[in-house]
Parts: sequence; C-alpha cells; structure tokens
Amino acid sequence: MKPPAEPNAPSRFKPVTPAIAEELRQIVGPRFVIFDQPEALEPFSHDEVAEKEYHATPEAVVRPASAQEIAQIMKLANRQRIPVTPRGGGSGLSGGAVPVHGGIVLSLDRMNRILEIDTQNLVAVVEPGVITNDIDAAVKEHGLFFAGYPMSLQSCFIGGNVAENAGGGKAVKYGVTGRYVLGLEVVTAEGQITQLGGKVVKNVSGYDLIGLFVGSEGTLGIFTKIILKLLPRPKRVVDLLVLFRDAASAIGLVPTIMTEARIVPTAVEFMDRRSALAACQYLNEKIPYENAGAMLLIELDGNSAGQLEQDYEAVGELCLKGGALEVYVADNATTSERIWSVRRSIAEAFMVESPHQSLEDICVPVAAIPRILPELDRLCEKYDIQIPCYGHAGDGNLHVTAVKNPRHTLAAWHDMLPGLLGELYEITRGLGGVISGEHGIGHKRKNYLHYSVDEVSLDLMRRLKQALDPNGVLNPGKIV
Ligand code: LAC
Ligand code: ZN
Repeated sequence: MKPPAEPNAPSRFKPVTPAIAEELRQIVGPRFVIFDQPEALEPFSHDEVAEKEYHATPEAVVRPASAQEIAQIMKLANRQRIPVTPRGGGSGLSGGAVPVHGGIVLSLDRMNRILEIDTQNLVAVVEPGVITNDIDAAVKEHGLFFAGYPMSLQSCFIGGNVAENAGGGKAVKYGVTGRYVLGLEVVTAEGQITQLGGKVVKNVSGYDLIGLFVGSEGTLGIFTKIILKLLPRPKRVVDLLVLFRDAASAIGLVPTIMTEARIVPTAVEFMDRRSALAACQYLNEKIPYENAGAMLLIELDGNSAGQLEQDYEAVGELCLKGGALEVYVADNATTSERIWSVRRSIAEAFMVESPHQSLEDICVPVAAIPRILPELDRLCEKYDIQIPCYGHAGDGNLHVTAVKNPRHTLAAWHDMLPGLLGELYEITRGLGGVISGEHGIGHKRKNYLHYSVDEVSLDLMRRLKQALDPNGVLNPGKIV
C-alpha cells in the first residue's frame, strides 16, 4: 500500500500562510478558523478508514455558515492555489474528506438547519450539515419518511450522503440517496453559487447537473442547500431475523426472495457469524443462537397489517424451505432497533478489533451474489487471512472485509493487500460488478478505478473535473 501523496514531490499548491489564515478569519469570523494548532487539526486528518496511510492533516480548518462565505473561500483558494477539501460528518469509508494535499478542510458542521418541511409538496429543504437521522425524525411527526438509511445515520451528514450518493439498509426497496435529491444549491469550485432543480419531481430542463454533482465526492462542487423528496411514511414495519447453518445457504436464498415470493422487501441484510459476533461483543448484546453460521435481516413495510402478515409469512416459509434454522419476527420498534443496531455496528466493531483491515463494498448483480462466497474462501486460503463478510445482500452489495492476520507482520500485510484487492476486484468485474457500491473511490480506491471504468469513461471523468475545477483546487487527489 502506498501513501497517496508523495511528501517530497514538488507541490503545485501553495501553503496556508498566517496572512491567508487571517483572510479566512475575516471571511468566517476568527472563532471558526483552526490554524497552527496541531491537536485541534488532528481530528480532521481522517475519516473512518483506520489505516494511518490514508490520513493527512490539513493546514487549516474553516467552518463557514453560508454559501456566500464558502464562495469567498473558494475564490481565495483559486487565487492562491490552495486545496480545499469539504467535510461532512467524517463517517466516510474511502478517504473522501481527507485533505491529501494539506491546505484547507472546509467543515460544513455549522450549516445544520432544517430550513423547511413542506408537507404539501412532500419535500424537505435542508442544509448539508444536518445529521441524516434528524431529517427522518423531524418529518416523522408529519407522517412523512426520508428513505435514506446509511448505516452511520446517527452521525453522518446529509451533505456527505449526497456527495457519496450513499446507499445503505433500505436501498432494496427505496434506492439510494440520489433518488431523493430534487434540487441543490451548489458553490462551484471557482466560487460561484448556482441553484439546480427545485421542488419538482420531474425535470429534464438541460443536462442533469444534479445527477453529476450527486456522488461526486466533494470534487466538483460544495452543496449548501439540498431539496429532498419525502415519502408518505409506511404505517407498519416488520423485521425478520433468519438464522442459517452456514453463510452459503443464507446468501443462496437472497435472489429468490423477490423472484419467488414476489415481494420487494425494504431490506435484505446479510451477516456472517464472525460479523454478528463482533458486533454483539462490541454492543454487549447477546445472540442466543450458537449454532447459526449466518443470518439474514429482512425488513418489510406497508400500511395493512393483514397484507404485511401475509408477506412476512411468505418470506419466512421461503426461508424455511431454503434451509433456515429459525425465523424470528420483530414487530415492535424496540426489538427491531436492537437487531438493526447489531447490524449497524459491525463496521465499527471490526475497526476496534483491528485497524489493519480493508473494508470493501463491492456490488454485483443480485443473481451473482451466491458466487462470491466460494471466491472469498479461495482468497482466505491463498493469502492466509480471514475475510469476514456482511452487507446489503439484497442489493448485491457486500462488505467484504480483509483483516490482517495477527501472525503476519505489518509490512507483509501492506505488501499483500494490493494483490488481494486486485484479485477481489477482478472477481467482481468477472461477475459483472463494480468495486464500490456505496463508499466511493476517494483516494483509497483511486488506483483501482480502472476495474470498473474503462479508459474512455476515465478520460471523460478527467475532462469533466478539468472543466468544473480548472485550477484543481477542490478536493484534489481523489477519484481520477
Ligand atoms: C455498513 C457500512 C460499512 O453497511 O456501509 O455497515
Ligand atoms: Zn454498507
């Protein structure tokens, strides 16, 4: 694994001098600039990627309160050739918010207002620094629902979700974040402010710039206002926790849930034994199912209790026919939340267990998902490591997590990882899949993007970046 920025290479960027820090203070106010304070800058040097190789400390952090302030910061950055890296909740998993070339981290934490909940148009207008879960909590009392459900929803910011086009636990039925973005206010890399879309659900007026900005990982523009589509809130939710003897039987069943039961579940999450146990230990939660080798967490929602019961019985029967050991039904919010909290904590639990790991998020066509596990077994044997696996099986999106073998040296682990990832991505490509379904490329997967994007498209991406950010000051060192 190579450090992404070569420290001795001559930089095309200028440093943040005390005079520039003073200019930043004049833009956002002296309290909202961190400069020359290594300890205060450190928390902005990383996201949730634990490996130190992917960390880099900024020279300054600014915390603006408005689009106008951000526009001024971007103008300054272009004039002085200083890199600017936008940052949301810091819960990313590909280093998207890490300032690999130093410079300024632009933290959006102060722009955290829900500006409007428009119950007539089923729309919420929010600033980028709102915690995602707070949006759903606020619209809930109006009988509405925000369908975005990344696993870090209690800490991530909606701006980061839009920047990464975050997926998560409800994408099987509701799709990913981008589906809900009707409009954006964007500060361009050069410091102009533009309004895209609005409260309209259909819009083919010109190129789809919203689609371009969504998922651009903070490399093309900075969102300062987001118009989100809401849905009527389903009145009932049921979760099934289905236990299987082994991972293969659990995963093998996934493609059939929709094709045979003819039901679109809200979620179909997979946890292998090791993942579930790690999360339970981390949460001090008990799993009383000692002989289960893997589990599916299947969520269904709807308005009619009768219909929902029919649906979960059909899914449950299908699981039992497919070799499930047990189907537990959670039909109240407390039990559901307990199960989901186990699922949501897996990544964090593994981080605590070992920082030397690579958390992946490959995505394959759903019907190909059973073919992944034998390949992972082969990689485990070849590289003599463990690769626990969990994730959004209903989307074909699995968190394959390569973990350093404690018997290997750190140097051996770093030497082996590129080869291992290359093989994993080659397998994924062979199944018609992509290297990242939801965490993004950032700088962690930059050298591997060619497994999912051909030369022609890579060139188009580079040209788009050049057109929108001619001085290359916005989040440099990412994606392409
Ligand atoms: C999850 C994160 C890792 O699904 O995407 O838990
Ligand atoms: Zn995930």
